[in-house]
Amino acid sequence: MRLAKLNSFSINIFIILMLCLACKKKIDHKSLKKQKSVMRIEKCYYGTTVDKEEVTLFKLINEGGIYVEVITFGGRVTTIKCPDLQGKMDNVVLGFDSLSQYEKKNPYFGAAVGRYVNRIANGRFSLEGEVYTLAKNNGDNSLHGGLKGFDKVVWIVEEVKETPSFVSVKLAYLSKDMEEGFPGNLQTTVTYTLNNDNSLNIHYEAITDKTTIVNLTNHSYFNLSGDCSNSILDHEVQINANKYVPVNKSLIPTGTLASVEHTPFDFRAAQLLGDVIKNNHEQIEIGDGFDHCWVLNNVSKGYRSVAKAYHSLSGRVLEVLTDQPGMQFYTGNFLDGTLPAPNGGVFNKRSGFCFETQHFPDAPNQPKFPSTTLVPGEKYRTKTTFKFSTKY
Ligand code: GLA
Repeated sequence: MRLAKLNSFSINIFIILMLCLACKKKIDHKSLKKQKSVMRIEKCYYGTTVDKEEVTLFKLINEGGIYVEVITFGGRVTTIKCPDLQGKMDNVVLGFDSLSQYEKKNPYFGAAVGRYVNRIANGRFSLEGEVYTLAKNNGDNSLHGGLKGFDKVVWIVEEVKETPSFVSVKLAYLSKDMEEGFPGNLQTTVTYTLNNDNSLNIHYEAITDKTTIVNLTNHSYFNLSGDCSNSILDHEVQINANKYVPVNKSLIPTGTLASVEHTPFDFRAAQLLGDVIKNNHEQIEIGDGFDHCWVLNNVSKGYRSVAKAYHSLSGRVLEVLTDQPGMQFYTGNFLDGTLPAPNGGVFNKRSGFCFETQHFPDAPNQPKFPSTTLVPGEKYRTKTTFKFSTKY
């Protein structure tokens, strides 16, 4: 009888203990989930510019713990941390560790570039019978919006969204009429959205009050090894383009579109960058590597997959989707080891590559290229996605 009592007593204790353990497990699990994988945005002060403007940093984090950092100075993407095949998180974009470095002359690391990305020949174009003159900040040409383009201004925070499936930050900038020589007040927004499928969408919109030209892009330099002291030559690259835009010695389009067939510009099947870039080809010599706009296939389909990069050692894959007609593939040819990297080293030639989705360079002076003109009443809208994954 006593034995039976004791037995039922110990059974009760056992059940209570098990329940406690189960509860604890639940609580632990919950708090772990909260700590590690809740889609969220964190915000902090990043610095103050020489003109005494405050700069904010937004950290967009998804459920997988992947995160993207964006600062309001230049609308720049400063960090993209994503895992390799083993789950090791590394930063796959080139960037500095201080605002002052971003304010100094630099190769547009991570920037929202505008009002006109890439080159405009002789810093001049005409529109509706008017000739407009821009600052020549690249030899005889205008490059990436001029002396103080969108990459060097502080953007206003228009909207921050946190939802269970995505987080986003929308930045705005009003480029005044004749700023850097461009006509029309251009109200521009760029929205960075991080999704749970490890994709970063970049969405631009712009309206003007006078006919103008617009061509916007993001100028992130990728190195999928996660270590900017490595060269990108061990990356495989694939671009869905049958044609590219050949350029003259000052990197201005010659006006023709050339077939990639039987040339080192043929990335329709994936190519190892280190193999292709050493080809003797006049256009590679001109660019000291690749610094060309590819004419992306299937532009009539709109938003579509256009390019991929793969780094076999880490297993990281980057896929690009866009609605744009072109993409400048730039292999960091002008990085010359003079700029300091956060790891204590420097940014060497070919330590990063850019996939700059855009309209073709110098389009305002090239009647055969798709138009970059924006008129009042019309909305410029474009979307590009950088999607990260891994494969063996
Ligand atoms: C673009 C240009 C390059 C160079 C870089 C920035 O990709 O095409 O020629 O100016 O930007 O250094």
